[in-house]
Amino acid sequence: MTVPLLEARNLSLQRGGVDVLKSVSLTVRENDVLALIGSNGAGKTSLLLALARLLPVGKGDLLVNGEAVRGGRAELGYRRRVAMVLQEPLLLDATVTVNVATGLSLRGTPRKEQQERVDEALERFGITGLSRRSARSLSSGEARRVSLARAFAMRPEIIFMDEPFTALDLPLREALLLQLTQLLHSEGITAVIATHDCREVLQLCNRLAVMNKGRLIGSGTPDEVLMNPPDDFSAAFARYAHSFNCTTRG
Ligand SMILES: Nc1ncnc2c1ncn2[C@@H]1O[C@H](COP(=O)(O)OP(=O)(O)OP(=O)(O)O)[C@@H](O)[C@H]1O
Ligand SMILES: [Mg+2]
Repeated sequence: MTVPLLEARNLSLQRGGVDVLKSVSLTVRENDVLALIGSNGAGKTSLLLALARLLPVGKGDLLVNGEAVRGGRAELGYRRRVAMVLQEPLLLDATVTVNVATGLSLRGTPRKEQQERVDEALERFGITGLSRRSARSLSSGEARRVSLARAFAMRPEIIFMDEPFTALDLPLREALLLQLTQLLHSEGITAVIATHDCREVLQLCNRLAVMNKGRLIGSGTPDEVLMNPPDDFSAAFARYAHSFNCTTRG
């Protein structure tokens, strides 16, 4: 058995004095697209932030290729390999181009390459026409596209996406659902996606994990989990997917 790309072992996390992650263990293999589902407040965002190391974890370990991400250098090295699309896009008070280029310039990417990658990302998410606009003046769907473009421009090894398509209009959402599997595959990106959308789960993802009150209570292929849902939420999710005739990836 090969070592998983990413492994969380018994991660626990408190926020505001409340236990929001309770001994969560999870493995993500290279090229997996893992969906996290669960009711509001179940801990999906908290888990993504903990996996991306954007929140300090109380207990437990995070391993990448079998090595613990612990200590300044390991954390810094890890952060360079991952990107995150937040549930609420956090954009700088600058143009769209500057926002998309920021991570690349912080990493010292040569200017010409920055420009190429930014142009490619803007085009991919249909926001080339917004490149000179102030990010603060954007609609929420436009801001979401900028946030996606910024993350993909980094060409991360692992991308964490928190309800990435929520505010997007239908044509872009449809197009991205079709393109994203291909994009993740061709760029060799492993993804973890929190979502409430059964089509995102079934069309994009080859793995599914269910969160409930800070615990990870079930995981497997989407078919395995939804055939035998571990809680009421995932049972409702399975019925919804069934009633809308959502089909699985492949
Ligand atoms: N800063 C905070 N201080 C205290 N509690 C918090 C904080 N942030 C989140 N929580 C709590 O942690 C729990 C998990 O929240 P989280 O945002 O991870 O849930 P979620 O599964 O992403 O929900 P949603 O589907 O609504 O996005 C919730 O009970 C929430 O109220
Ligand atoms: Mg959330």
